[in-house]
Amino acid sequence: MPKITWFGHSVIQLETGGATLLVDPFLTGNPLAAAEAADLAPDVILVSHGHGDHLGDTVALARRTGALVICNFEIAGWLEKKGVANLRPMHIGGGSDHAWGRVKLTNALHGSGLPDGSYGGNPCGFLFTVEGKKIYHACDTGLFSDMALIGEEGLELAILPIGDNFTMGPNDALRAVKLLKPRRVVPIHYNTFDLIKQDPDSWRTRVEKETPAKVVVLEPGESLTV
Ligand code: NI
Ligand code: MN
Repeated sequence: MPKITWFGHSVIQLETGGATLLVDPFLTGNPLAAAEAADLAPDVILVSHGHGDHLGDTVALARRTGALVICNFEIAGWLEKKGVANLRPMHIGGGSDHAWGRVKLTNALHGSGLPDGSYGGNPCGFLFTVEGKKIYHACDTGLFSDMALIGEEGLELAILPIGDNFTMGPNDALRAVKLLKPRRVVPIHYNTFDLIKQDPDSWRTRVEKETPAKVVVLEPGESLTV
């Protein structure tokens, strides 16, 4: 069964089909990081957008491990110039099949500038199909009504930001659950910094009162079998 581990902020590790995938590996400088980049050995790294709290340790991790990096076309070009060789450039709406399963890039309402000011294309989320299950990692985004289209795919799990300020806050994340209709939800992208302080337990109470979804609040470093 697919297993996810939350390392704090937006960092999600997905272990499935004999592979380890790591989304948005912001570990160095992440006050909530439950792992060090040097201790991780992903087979695949996925980068949702160019901001430092998502790109994170991608360059060093990819160069050390040779992991395949999946991201948008513009970030792939930037990473290539930084010495990352194993790249899969993609873009929103497109999917790709791998030995471990499928990933499709979804819309995200956000920015994507790279740390050195380079253009980072459009931000995205990720819809995984692994072991017959659909897992949606929204990454950084505001609420958008096309989340209903993602929900039509039948989600086992949605991983949603609730931090407010830079992404959806608790109110819009609750509306997102109503559009996505996942069986379970994991809140992320909160409490890393003062600007995104939230109480995930009160959010869980609201979501479970107003929707059939079950909310799983993880501690950084904790895992969930999907
Ligand atoms: Ni961002
Ligand atoms: Mn962010």
